[in-house]
Amino acid sequence: MKRFTAMLLMFPVLFLTVSCIRVTTNIVSSPDHCIRVKLDVMKDGTPFYLVKYKGETVIDTSALGFDLGGKVPPFSGFRIDKIQHSLQRDEPWEMPWGEQRIVENDYNGMNVFLKETGTLGREMHLEFRVYDDGLGFRYVFPQQLYLEEMVILDENTEFSLTGDHEVWWIPGDWDIYEHLYKHTRLTEIDALKYRTLEGLAQTYIPFNAVNTPVTMKTGKGLYLSFHEANLTNYAGMTLKIDAGNLKMTSELVGNDQGIKATVSTPFSTPWRTLQIAERAGDLIESRLILNLNPPAVCTIPDFRPTKYMGIWWDMHIGTKSWDYASGRHGATTDYAKKYIDFCAANGIGALLVEGWNTGWEHWFGDFDREGVFDFVTPYPDYDLEDVVAYGKSKGVEIIMHHETSAAPRTYEQQLDTAFALMKRLGIHAVKTGYVGKIIPKGEYHHGQWMVRHYRKVLTTAARAGIAVNAHEPIKDTGIRRTYPNAISREGLRGQEFNAWSPDGGNPPGHLPTVAFTRMLAGPIDFTPGIFNIKLKPYKPDNQVNTTLAHQLALYVVIYSPIQMVPDLIENYEGHPAFQFIRDVGVDWDETRVLDGDVGEFVTIVRKERGTGNWFLGSITNETERKINIPCDFLDRGKAYTAVIYSDGKHAHWNDNPTACSIDTVTVRRNCDISVNLAPGGGCAISFSR
Ligand code: NOJ
Ligand code: CA
Repeated sequence: MKRFTAMLLMFPVLFLTVSCIRVTTNIVSSPDHCIRVKLDVMKDGTPFYLVKYKGETVIDTSALGFDLGGKVPPFSGFRIDKIQHSLQRDEPWEMPWGEQRIVENDYNGMNVFLKETGTLGREMHLEFRVYDDGLGFRYVFPQQLYLEEMVILDENTEFSLTGDHEVWWIPGDWDIYEHLYKHTRLTEIDALKYRTLEGLAQTYIPFNAVNTPVTMKTGKGLYLSFHEANLTNYAGMTLKIDAGNLKMTSELVGNDQGIKATVSTPFSTPWRTLQIAERAGDLIESRLILNLNPPAVCTIPDFRPTKYMGIWWDMHIGTKSWDYASGRHGATTDYAKKYIDFCAANGIGALLVEGWNTGWEHWFGDFDREGVFDFVTPYPDYDLEDVVAYGKSKGVEIIMHHETSAAPRTYEQQLDTAFALMKRLGIHAVKTGYVGKIIPKGEYHHGQWMVRHYRKVLTTAARAGIAVNAHEPIKDTGIRRTYPNAISREGLRGQEFNAWSPDGGNPPGHLPTVAFTRMLAGPIDFTPGIFNIKLKPYKPDNQVNTTLAHQLALYVVIYSPIQMVPDLIENYEGHPAFQFIRDVGVDWDETRVLDGDVGEFVTIVRKERGTGNWFLGSITNETERKINIPCDFLDRGKAYTAVIYSDGKHAHWNDNPTACSIDTVTVRRNCDISVNLAPGGGCAISFSR
């Protein structure tokens, strides 16, 4: 009898995908019951929610609501009209490319239908999805007579924290995410001082707010990360800090008219997400953000994950220029062919060529002018058609480059012709860029106007079968699930800062922090793999602040289906450690975070699709450490050749960065590998059968 009951209980789990249950409780739990979320309404009609993890409050009473502008009267208080629960089980989905092939998507849902108590009786629903690894909730506004258009002056979603947590944060800049992460207590967050500290050309930080993903550690050692999913036709969310009340409140990115977003009903906001983990590595393994995005609406049959080189680093270290008139033009037919030859000889599938098109001669200094760039006319010393054809003959694709100089209207005017040219030539990917202040003045990179622009580029590209790698982008919110042509993006301080930043570049702890913050949002075009760490003789005042083994490890640690091999050919040619870059995969069946802590270190293994080979990357901040790697992720009964690229004797990110040892051993799943990571160091291992 007992067995029969157990089987009955299993039925909904095994055979139901989404089912709706009408119950009155205003509490919803995760499938494993660890997370509990409650939605209720205060006496004055303000909705609020609470989140508990294993019985402990992680988000205390937090109000929800909006300030509306225009002719619409303010919301005047709500009551709960109806509550609907649902559960979804057993509907894993497959990623066309990604960190893993199959993604589980089990959650319990709760839809709370709120209705205004006043005569207008307007409706606002709150939809919750609670997974084992966190939760998302969003506001849903059905189409209704007294709420057709909404001018949103602000969204007031509160996140009341239960302690003065440790926080890894960047400022809530409306224009750029390219800031160094700070590690402070919540009450010590002072984003406004970044206004003067970094002196970036495009930066606007109006409030003491942080951008997301923002990751925290509670006094009890629980990890929390706040972000958003499916940012569509809305403004990016920053979180304003109220130190006195240990509270964060959503502060949407607006424009100079004081408007945050204008929408018409029916409308749903992006999901506000909270990842909860006992182990820092579980934050990275979570696919919560992707799960909260709708399934794919298109395919991109011509895109294959790949490594790519570029006529690019040359410009950042000053050996070449984007500008034809400079006398050091990088994008020449001959130079591109030299790179194509090197790519072909080393199994690198693509080449990015920047500075190929007219306009760069006006780039610097003309940031406030539209019509600067032309996306179809090459400079006279660059034969685009010849280069593309030469690449094709060698199995190397060209990646197109469109720097818009933050003039989206100019880009939109040319989008169709630019993509038609790419289509005609058989170019399947574009890197876009938005350096400078947005034109028109008064709009910001992360506001609704730009969110719409970025999406327009993505959907137009999808129709043309083109994949997009956006720099100076809107943050990733998992939209790659719906549009798999959103292959990668920047949205952080990338490697380029090491070439020219007056503050000395990214410190050794940068990427051990990025892995637990920015990387939770999605793929990163970081451009790892600089071998000439000291940038000699070109940039005496700059350098990469890691060891060479750390650079190798980044190919595994940082996820992107396109990984750059950015250094100059001469720095790779004949270098024994280059073998790792030749070998390392870019598309994965599985990803596991073996160990790590935010800002300290991280060790990740990934299993390559197609070959079944495993690759390991481990990186540390300035602290030297010994790591032990149990090889139990390897397949049972199989022997692997492990090539271990580790920091050499006395390696150090500053004093001795290029000392790298390469050892080959045979291992099985019952083996342990022990490695020393130097200060700012790392380790990369390929496991092949
Ligand atoms: C900034 C991008 O991040 C960088 O990769 C690119 O080379 C320049 N803009 C020029 O477009
Ligand atoms: Ca950039």
